Amino acid sequence: MSITLKTPAEIDAMRVAGRLAGEVLDYIEPFVKPGVTTAELDRLCHDYMVNVQGCIPAPLNYAPPGYPPYPKSICASINHQVCHGVPNDRPLKRGDILNLDITTIKDGWHGDTSRMFAVGEGVSILGKRLMKITHECLWVGIAAVKPGARLGDIGAAIQRHAEQNGFSVVKEFCGHGIGRRFHEEPQVLHYGKRGDGIELQTGMVFTIEPMINAGKAAVSELPDGWTIITKDRSLSAQWEHTLAITETGVEVLTLSAGAPPNPFPA
Ligand code: MF3
Ligand code: CO
Ligand code: CO
Repeated sequence: MSITLKTPAEIDAMRVAGRLAGEVLDYIEPFVKPGVTTAELDRLCHDYMVNVQGCIPAPLNYAPPGYPPYPKSICASINHQVCHGVPNDRPLKRGDILNLDITTIKDGWHGDTSRMFAVGEGVSILGKRLMKITHECLWVGIAAVKPGARLGDIGAAIQRHAEQNGFSVVKEFCGHGIGRRFHEEPQVLHYGKRGDGIELQTGMVFTIEPMINAGKAAVSELPDGWTIITKDRSLSAQWEHTLAITETGVEVLTLSAGAPPNPFPA
């Protein structure tokens, strides 16, 4: 399957799905506290998506080739977990860093976004810096998106910012085209060379979702078949938005009232 370009009307529909995904993160933020379990956060998000928003949580039973069906409605990745953390009954602890990744389906269209959360007070200086620099990595990637730019420009900008700050980029997972399907072409690498890769075109919709490690880049998979951790058990952070390429540049489809703003406003 090749890259599907979205019409303006399709982007209108994806803007709704995207905003709803962002609003799930706005909704859940006050519940992220020491003592809550990620299974509770999963249930709250599930019920909000289904009963309040009229959405389908895309992760639930999602089973790409080679994966067991995903058993929950959100991903919750703590500390050295890189991505795809499966919600469970262990309570969050003061000082944890947590990524919550939400993907909604509204009227057949997907919206995919994730944020980092500090659990209570007491996140280490390193943890705070990793969350901040990773957020900046997302936005230096977004800043590279416009018609005529190349996919490699995005990865190069992200890799440079991460490595300049002493962090490493996870190579095994990437951003992705998105639309009627959760994961479409193209793959959006978070590393690479400026000028490499395909040219960005109006109507493309894809995510940027850098996973940045405080230590080495290598990752491993837990026996649950989903959860990815850093091999060296160093902290990892991730932020994600869904973007549409417009005539003039880029539109972030997953913004909502509570989304932290672009740290590099024009
Ligand atoms: N939301 C993740 C992404 O950004 C994918 C999670 S797949 C799941 O691409 F099944 F774990 F939800
Ligand atoms: Co994604
Ligand atoms: Co996601």
